[in-house]
Amino acid sequence: MHDLLDDAARRALRYLATLDDRPVAPRPEALARLGELDGALPAGPGDPAHTLQLLDEIGSPATMASAGGRFFGFVIGGALPVTVASHWLATAWDQNAALHAPAAAVSALETTALRWLCELLGLPAGTAGAFVTGATMANFTALAAARHAVLARAGWSVEADGLFGAPPITVVIGEEAHPTLLKSLGMLGLGRKRVRRVSVDGQGRMRPDAFPELAGPAIVCLQAGNVNTGAVDPMTPLIAAAHAAGAWVHVDGAFGLWAAAADATRGLVQGIAQADSWATDAHKWLNVPYDSGVAFVRDAEALRESPHRNPSDYTPELSRRARGVDVWAALHALGREGVAELVERCCAHARRFAEELRASGFEVLNEVVLNQVLVAFGGDEETLRTIARLQVEGTCWCGATRWQGRAAMRISVSSWATTAEDVARSVEAIRRAAHPPRPGIRT
Ligand SMILES: Cc1ncc(COP(=O)(O)O)c(C=O)c1O
Repeated sequence: MHDLLDDAARRALRYLATLDDRPVAPRPEALARLGELDGALPAGPGDPAHTLQLLDEIGSPATMASAGGRFFGFVIGGALPVTVASHWLATAWDQNAALHAPAAAVSALETTALRWLCELLGLPAGTAGAFVTGATMANFTALAAARHAVLARAGWSVEADGLFGAPPITVVIGEEAHPTLLKSLGMLGLGRKRVRRVSVDGQGRMRPDAFPELAGPAIVCLQAGNVNTGAVDPMTPLIAAAHAAGAWVHVDGAFGLWAAAADATRGLVQGIAQADSWATDAHKWLNVPYDSGVAFVRDAEALRESPHRNPSDYTPELSRRARGVDVWAALHALGREGVAELVERCCAHARRFAEELRASGFEVLNEVVLNQVLVAFGGDEETLRTIARLQVEGTCWCGATRWQGRAAMRISVSSWATTAEDVARSVEAIRRAAHPPRPGIRT
């Protein structure tokens, strides 16, 4: 056991140490070798050291270098070294975080981590929280609480009697709600299609003047951090309008909720603490290992009644890993100032990208208010060709998206590992991808 775990640590360290020198996207040859791991189910036991060797020698080169500093696809953070370490240790502990009694240590750590998160994000003291796999499940969990509350107010127990014959719930979302929010609504029986969609402005923010009249049980889903632009719905007027109609307000803040942790960005999410529930990710901007999301619900009655709460009272699942340990470790190691600095640094890198790319004559399609930048290199075909060339060249990795009818390249700066030099190298690579040397012309 000692040699095996020692070998794993050495291999992991070598992997991380060489990330900077390899192409960000795996080479096709490396991906092709994955076939070697796809053999028949072994008939009997083998040497665990050989198992690990195969994983490293074939698996490691086939990974995307998203743990490094020049991966800017989707919204994917890295993992702070202290959280990789806490993850290793917590894996050795192998606690089932579902229940307090058999897992008192991790239960205590998670309770502290939730309190710290609420403080850091400016959420009301006493807010209840749940550690889940990601923002999709955090939205699901918080919206299950919303569904419970609005139907309970109408005299209906959805847990006992289901949705058949229940008073209808009006669900309001923005035109730019993340697709996973619809997935959560679908799983909750609230319907993907029967939602009322509110139109948005040029940055993807819900327009308060288009907010509908509401009557009866209602849930309003706002967004902090549009996945393309980083824009935040105007919280204060929208929450006031929703509450005036008696609606529950939920905020999907997968990455945008972290704006509340830094002085420079807090203004963007002003008023957000007035909502009733919030969803966020720790695996994005807090840079803990996957998978890690958090649901927050203001109404913490059950939490207050139970000094030794069972975490599973607040999550859809029973057995699970103690993902709150990594959140505790990140917050303990960074402190309030460290988290603020991480958020502000990512935003500064994003602004630098925008300035440099604009100066190169490319079109930046969004107001860069957070960590997201959208760039077009001409028409859709030219933009998509540029992205494809960039991904193959390997200095950095950015993905394609569509923004208000146009193809765009999205740059998301979400990793602790990104440095100013990474940004400079990536800008150069983007310039080369947009203006490749023409064949036959020597450069
Ligand atoms: C606004 C928003 N909501 C929800 C999600 C889904 O998050 P997860 O992949 O952690 O489930 C994302 C992912 O990027 C997002 O940006």
